[in-house]
Amino acid sequence: MPKANFKARLIQFLENHRGLVIVVFCLPASFIFNLLLTLRRTINRLSSSPKHHENRVQAIQKQIQKWNKIPKIERKLLCTSRPNWLSLSTTFYRKDLCHQINIDLFDILELDEHNLTIRVEPMVTVGEITKFLIPKGYTLAVTLEIADATLGGLALGTGMTTHSHQVGLYHENITSYDVILHDGSLVRATPNENSDLYRTLPWSHGSLGFLVALTLKLVKVKPFIKMNYVPVQGKKEYCDMIRLLSGDGTPDYPTVDYLEATIFNPQQAVIMTGTYSDYDSSLPLNHVTRWYKPWFYKYTESFLKKGKHTELIPLREYLLRHNRPIFWVVESMIPFGNHPVFRFFLGWLLPPKPAFLKFTTTPGVRAYTFTRQVFQDIVLPIRKLEDQIDKSNELFDVYPLLVYPCRIYDRGPASGQLRAPRSEYIVEGTNYAIYNDLGIYGVPGYVKRKEKYNAVYAMREMEKFTRDVGGFSFLYADIFMTRDEFDQMFDLKLYENVRVKYGAEGSFPHLYDKVKPEINVFEIGDQHEIK
Ligand SMILES: Cc1cc2nc3c(=O)[nH]c(=O)nc-3n(C[C@H](O)[C@H](O)[C@H](O)COP(=O)(O)OP(=O)(O)OC[C@H]3O[C@@H](n4cnc5c(N)ncnc54)[C@H](O)[C@@H]3O)c2cc1C
Ligand SMILES: *[C@@H]1O[C@H](CO)[C@@H](O)[C@H](O)[C@H]1NC(C)=O
Ligand SMILES: *[C@@H]1O[C@H](CO)[C@@H](O)[C@H](O)[C@H]1NC(C)=O
Repeated sequence: MPKANFKARLIQFLENHRGLVIVVFCLPASFIFNLLLTLRRTINRLSSSPKHHENRVQAIQKQIQKWNKIPKIERKLLCTSRPNWLSLSTTFYRKDLCHQINIDLFDILELDEHNLTIRVEPMVTVGEITKFLIPKGYTLAVTLEIADATLGGLALGTGMTTHSHQVGLYHENITSYDVILHDGSLVRATPNENSDLYRTLPWSHGSLGFLVALTLKLVKVKPFIKMNYVPVQGKKEYCDMIRLLSGDGTPDYPTVDYLEATIFNPQQAVIMTGTYSDYDSSLPLNHVTRWYKPWFYKYTESFLKKGKHTELIPLREYLLRHNRPIFWVVESMIPFGNHPVFRFFLGWLLPPKPAFLKFTTTPGVRAYTFTRQVFQDIVLPIRKLEDQIDKSNELFDVYPLLVYPCRIYDRGPASGQLRAPRSEYIVEGTNYAIYNDLGIYGVPGYVKRKEKYNAVYAMREMEKFTRDVGGFSFLYADIFMTRDEFDQMFDLKLYENVRVKYGAEGSFPHLYDKVKPEINVFEIGDQHEIK
């Protein structure tokens, strides 16, 4: 079989030289792809204006009224027409089976400097809003580190950042949502108006209605972040230090504005604390996002050897510090990407556009990546941080790990999809507990060493651990739970009521169906198991 043999050898070659293939073919293609996307967005932007927001909303209402005229048995469920590959979620929801509604809403609508809020359309991105706000001295109370994430996507999914230990999840600082329901009617959801809808829109992933505008709270900022890098030896030592800095245990402990840790191996971590600052000529200034600079996590790692360090970083560059190497995801694609020569000549080609990577993902690649890579963000109680690290080490053996704390507020029973934190985790004298994001990204050690590994087994064990300690999986990533297990993790009581009351039942897909992987993960997981 010479042909099959040739194919096998070709695949072997491409696998062995993956970095080269990516640099020669993917990065330039991704770059051009990005140029085209930017061009399209610019055209969208030029041809739209905040003044026409209402007209655009009416056009969407018309599309939905048309859908309502289709006989009930012929109607498909509703979803947005935004292609899967443009979204940052790792799943590829089967939009082809839905009736798609075009929600092209890209405008920043109104900055209210008196009330410190901003009203935006849902497709405005983190990159755009930081560019708009920071020169004016503001930022969103909660922003994400990825420039391509949209403000609407974060609202209906979830958002969490290194400032969340002071303010909680992204949706805590959303004051209103404008939503078009199944019948084409436009409603506003605020803490006082349609409050049940307001409480269930976060973590709903577009399963209740179409978001057409939202209002977010702002904070005043200074132009720089004063960053401290503190290397810590010993698991208990760094876990205790993160907990202390996050305000767990002692709510009055003076906390910093930004807090993050990168764990490089079970016994070593670098803790980063950031506070707003004006320019200070006594400190070195670091433009971390410039193309020739070392990848941020590699730079951070250097302090394990060099010891403590303090510097200034321009605020926007701080917020986008992980953008170029997409945390540490790019390393497994381009192993030599952080080499100074590569950075100097080709560093500007990074990051590969997530949209491009998704656009070129064939079913084969999808199966291969989910069984050979792990890509999860999990929200877990910080008092179990040592157990989280042990569990992740046992199941995946992937480093670095990303950790940053977040307040999870107790909003009472059945107040949304997030369950109230268990009483044992509540910070004394407050109505919140400190949780943390555990970001596990990369190729598991077992896969690298070609040892026994079954992705579905490992993921399901991690999910079981998460349920056992009262945590939550981010739903942008693949989940491996059955419907029953999903119901244990999330509280769908109010959500199911809202679906009926606002007519989403029978019009929009159910949350579980919307976020579960589009492929049969159990079957593919077993086929691709490394024995
Ligand atoms: C490497 C990496 C690291 C990440 N780290 C973090 C992290 O640290 N913290 C964090 O918070 N997140 C993190 N994320 C995830 C990110 O928050 C999510 O992907 C988020 O959903 C934003 O993506 P998006 O704008 O593409 O939204 P989408 O995926 O497009 O939207 C989310 C959901 O909402 C629906 N939707 C979107 N807009 C509308 C609308 N107007 N009307 C109705 N439905 C709509 C979509 O159909 C989808 O189901 C990370 C992602 C990656 C790739
Ligand atoms: C600011 O908030 C106040 C009180 O909440 C409200 O009455 C006022 O209308 C708001 N201002 C604007 C410009 O929306
Ligand atoms: C954001 O929400 C949190 C939690 O409700 C609150 O403590 C904080 O004050 C809010 N931020 C702003 C800027 O209002």
